Amino acid sequence: MSWIDDFLKKQKPIVALAPMDGYCDSAFRAICQEVSGWNIVVFSEFYSADGLHHNPLLAKRVLTHNPIEHPLVFQIFGNTPEIFLSAGKIIESYGAQGVDINMGCPAKKVVKCGYGSGLMVDRDRAMKIVNILAENLAIPVTVKTRLGWNGAEELVEFGQALEQAGASLITVHGRTYKQEYMGEANWAPIKELAKNVKIPVLGNGDCKSYEDGMQKMENLAGFMIARWSLWNPWCFLPDNYEPAWQERIGVMEKHIEYMVSSKWENRACIEIRKHFTHYLHGFEWVREFRKKLATVTSVQETACILEELKTISL
Ligand SMILES: Cc1cc2nc3c(=O)[nH]c(=O)nc-3n(C[C@H](O)[C@H](O)[C@H](O)COP(=O)(O)O)c2cc1C
Repeated sequence: MSWIDDFLKKQKPIVALAPMDGYCDSAFRAICQEVSGWNIVVFSEFYSADGLHHNPLLAKRVLTHNPIEHPLVFQIFGNTPEIFLSAGKIIESYGAQGVDINMGCPAKKVVKCGYGSGLMVDRDRAMKIVNILAENLAIPVTVKTRLGWNGAEELVEFGQALEQAGASLITVHGRTYKQEYMGEANWAPIKELAKNVKIPVLGNGDCKSYEDGMQKMENLAGFMIARWSLWNPWCFLPDNYEPAWQERIGVMEKHIEYMVSSKWENRACIEIRKHFTHYLHGFEWVREFRKKLATVTSVQETACILEELKTISL
C-alpha cells in the first residue's frame, strides 16, 4: 500500500515535514519522524535530477537513509523528462516511499534553467515529467507547487492537468512565484483546487503547528510545515506539545549522533550548528551555551556542552 493510501485508510490528516534545502537531510528527517511518533511523512531537501542521474556517488551520499525515516519522499528538480525518470528509478532503488517534483522553487538561478517554478509556465514539459514518472515507477509521484506565477487564476486548471498526468498528490504553498516569501500565505485557492480534483491536496505556508494546520486545512487532505519545524521539531504533535528541558537536550544529542552517522564528523559539526541555534532559540538564559554550540568543531566538544546544559534546571 502506498504511503498516501496508508494515511487515507487510517482517516488521518496527512501531516508532512516540508522539503527544505540545507535542512531536510537524513538526520533532521529522522529526528522529526522520531519526535512525532512516526505520524508524519518526511520530504527531503531538493536534489538535482541531473545530479542523481550523472553521479552515483552523489546519489549514494544523499539517498542513503535511516529506515526510521519511513515514510520518506525524495524531492527532485530539473526539467528533462528522461533524466527525471532515471533519477526516479534510482530513488526507488534506494527504498524511498515516493518521489516529489519541485514545481515551486522561486530562486532565480533555478527558474532561469526552467526548473522549479519555471515548470508552472512550461506546462507541456511539466506534464511530460509527471507522466513519465507515474507510468514507470511503482511508488507515488507527487508535486509541490505554488499558487501560480503572479496570481492563482490557473491553479485549478494546472492541478487538474497534474492529476491527469498521473500525480498522486499535490502540495501547494499559498504564495505565487512573484511573492516569493512576501505577504501571508493564502490557502483559499488551495481549497478551491481540492474541490476540483480527486487526488489529495496538502496546504502549505505559515503553518506553525499541528493544531494550526488542523484549523487551517478544512477540506484539504493535510498540511506541510517547513520553517516552524526548525525551531520546534515537536510542532507535528497535537495539543501544542512542549518538550521538557531534558528531552530537548536529549533530542539535540540524538541529532548530532544521526548527523555523524550519515556525514563526516567535521561536516556534521558545521551543519549541526544552525540546528542547535534553532533548538535553543528563545532560551535567553542559555545564550552563552548557544554561542559555544554555534562554533563546535568536534563531537566530543558538543557532548561536553550538551552535558553541561543538561544540568541547568529551569
Ligand atoms: C531554508 C528553506 C529551504 C527550502 N527548500 C525547499 C526545497 O528544497 N524544496 C521545496 O519544495 N521547498 C523548499 N522550501 C519551501 C518550503 O518547503 C515551504 O514551502 C515554505 O517555507 C513555506 O512553508 P512554511 O511557512 O511552513 O515555512 C524551502 C524553505 C526554506 C525556508
